Amino acid sequence: MKREERKNQAAFNILFILLCLAILLFLLNAPKETTSKLPNDAQHARFQAMKNKKDAEKLCEECHSPQGQVPLQENHPPKFRCLLCHKPR
Ligand code: HEC
Ligand code: HEC
Repeated sequence: MKREERKNQAAFNILFILLCLAILLFLLNAPKETTSKLPNDAQHARFQAMKNKKDAEKLCEECHSPQGQVPLQENHPPKFRCLLCHKPR
């Protein structure tokens, strides 16, 4: 490699490392997880144990549909995958 090229290479390496550090700091600064977990009570016990989240989620509607006993609030965020946000414990 010529001297000029080697200098460029070093500059790119340093830039790359700085970029990595910036991304790392950004991720470390993410706010704490605040979404409520799947409740640990009798109503939800069977879902805590289910390995397949997609199967479990089909059953949430039983109670959390608009006609169910605990309908979601109108401003509830998009709700395709319940258990990705409301994590089992
Ligand atoms: C048999 C009825 C029933 C089913 C089925 C059910 N829930 Fe619930 N859920 C309730 C009731 C009742 C409450 C309110 C009291 C409580 O916290 O248990 C509730 C509350 C919640 C809350 C609010 C907790 C909080 O801290 O505010 C979340 C989140 C939740 N359920 C998620 C789910 C998910 C996800 C599923 C499907 C995997 C599900 N539920 C299935 C009855 C049910
Ligand atoms: C994109 C993330 C996300 C998904 C997916 C999601 N939720 Fe929520 N849910 C929230 C947030 C945020 C709140 C309000 C704050 C809290 O309770 O943590 C909430 C609140 C709730 C509550 C409390 C009552 C209310 O409406 O505020 C229940 C019950 C609930 N969710 C059930 C469910 C069910 C059942 C599903 C799947 C059909 C689901 N959620 C999918 C994020 C989500």
